[in-house]
Amino acid sequence: MMIDPLGERLLRHGQDHLADHLGTLSGAVHDAFRRELESVDWERAASMHRHAGPHVAPLLPEGLAPIPSTEPDASQRDGFWQEGLAMLARGEAAFVLMAGGQGSRLGFDGPKGACPLGLPDDLVLFEVVVRRLLRLGELSGKIPPFAVMTGPENDAATREWFKDRTGPAVPGSRASWPSLFLQSAAPALDDDGKALVSESGKLALVPDGNGGIWERLRDAGILDAWAAAGVKWIHVAGVDNLLSLPCDPVFLGFAKAAGHPLSCKSVLRTDPSEKVGVYVLDGDRHPRVAEYTELPPETAGARAADGLPVFREANIASHLLTLDLARSFAEQELPWHLARKKIPHVDPVSGHDLSDRSGCKYERFLFDAFPSASGMSVLRVSRAGEFAPVKNAQGVDSPQTAREALENLHRSWIAAWGEHRDPPWVDPMESFSGERPTKTSTRS
Ligand code: UD1
Repeated sequence: MMIDPLGERLLRHGQDHLADHLGTLSGAVHDAFRRELESVDWERAASMHRHAGPHVAPLLPEGLAPIPSTEPDASQRDGFWQEGLAMLARGEAAFVLMAGGQGSRLGFDGPKGACPLGLPDDLVLFEVVVRRLLRLGELSGKIPPFAVMTGPENDAATREWFKDRTGPAVPGSRASWPSLFLQSAAPALDDDGKALVSESGKLALVPDGNGGIWERLRDAGILDAWAAAGVKWIHVAGVDNLLSLPCDPVFLGFAKAAGHPLSCKSVLRTDPSEKVGVYVLDGDRHPRVAEYTELPPETAGARAADGLPVFREANIASHLLTLDLARSFAEQELPWHLARKKIPHVDPVSGHDLSDRSGCKYERFLFDAFPSASGMSVLRVSRAGEFAPVKNAQGVDSPQTAREALENLHRSWIAAWGEHRDPPWVDPMESFSGERPTKTSTRS
C-alpha cells in the first residue's frame, strides 16, 4: 500500500486529526488545504508545544543582574552625530521597521503604522518614519535603505499604504524603497498541541512574534542585497513609538565607538508596572531582555539603594547591529513563548464555532538572540526625546499621550531655536532630532 508522506508526517507530529479532516474534503478546497498542510514546518510546531506548551513552566530568567548603560554628554553626542552622518553618507546603515502583529490593543482595524493619531497634516507613524529618513537623506546626502516587516493580517493594507505614499510625492525614493517583507506565522494549537482550523479546510495560522525577523530578512534576500550595497549596520525598531529615530546618527556613532556588534537604546524605567522589557545580564553575564510578561513582580519591583528600580534599563525596541550579526542570528532557533488567546476556530468534524475557547499562540522575541552576541552596549536616551509608545486606544501609551509628548518636544526645540510657532509643530522633514531646520549637515 502507498503511504502518503504528508499523512505520515502529520501522524508523526500528532496532527492526525488534520489528515482525517483532509480526507473529508474534495476538489479545490481539498487541494488548497493539502498545500497549506505541506507548507507548515510540523517539526517546529511540535517543538513549540514541547518546549513552551501549557504544561511547561514559563522561561524565568535566573541570576539576573543589572546591566551598565551609557549616557553621553552633549559634546560626545555631537561627535557621535557627526560620525553617524558620515556612516550614512557612505551608505553603511539601513533601517528595518517592525510593523507586523495585531493592532487590536489600539482598537484600529488596519496597520498600526497607518492609525490616525490626530497629528498635524494627518501624519501617521509610517509617514513620520518616512519623513525622518528623508531628512537624514538631506543631512547626509543619502537616504538610508529601508525595509518594513508586515504581518499576515496587514500585509496588503501596508503595501497599499506605501504604494500610495512613496510615489512621486516622496522625492528621491526608488522603487525598492522601502522593501516590504512578510513576517513568519505558525499554527495556533490547542492545549494538547493539536493545530486549530479557522474554518473547514483552513488552518488557524497566527503571526509568531517579531523573533522571526532575522530569518525573514535573510530569506527575503534583504541581507544579501544590503551587503552588496555596502550596508554594515542594521537598525531595527518597532512601529509604535512616535518619537522613534530611524538610523539615528547619534546611535550609529555610539555603536561604532562602543566597538560591540550590538547596541540597544534604553530609557530609565521608574514605574515597575510599566509594560516594558528590561535589559539585564543573565546568570552567565550575557546581555538579554527580560520581558515584562515573564519578569516576576518581586524582580520587576526590586529597588536599589538610590530608590530606583534595580532593573532600570527599559527596552524601547530600538536595536542596532552589524549585518554579520544579523546573519548569525538568522541561523539560530529562538525559544518560543506561549500567549493564551481567543483564536477564531471551529471543530473540524462538527464545524461548530469554538472561538470562545482560548488557544495557544506561540511567539518568538527578536531579542532572544542577543545573549549570543559577543558584546552589547546600552545607550540610555531621554524618555521625553525618544519614547512615546502608541499601544492603547486610550489612557497610558495612547495616541493622546504620544501626541502630547511630540508637542512638548517640538516646543523645546522651537524655544532653543529662538523661534515662535503656533501650533508648536515641526515637520519631521525639517528637523530629525532637534537640529536647526537648515539644509546643512551641521548640528547647531
Ligand atoms: C515590545 C517589546 C518590549 C518593549 C516594548 C517597548 C518585544 C517582544 N517586546 O513589547 O520588550 O519594552 O515593545 O514598546 O519586542 N511585531 C511584529 N510581529 C509580531 C509581533 C510584534 O512585527 O508578531 C512588532 C510590532 O509591530 C511592534 C514590535 O514588534 O513594532 C513590538 O511588538 P508588540 O507586540 O507591540 O510588543 P510590546 O508588548 O509592546
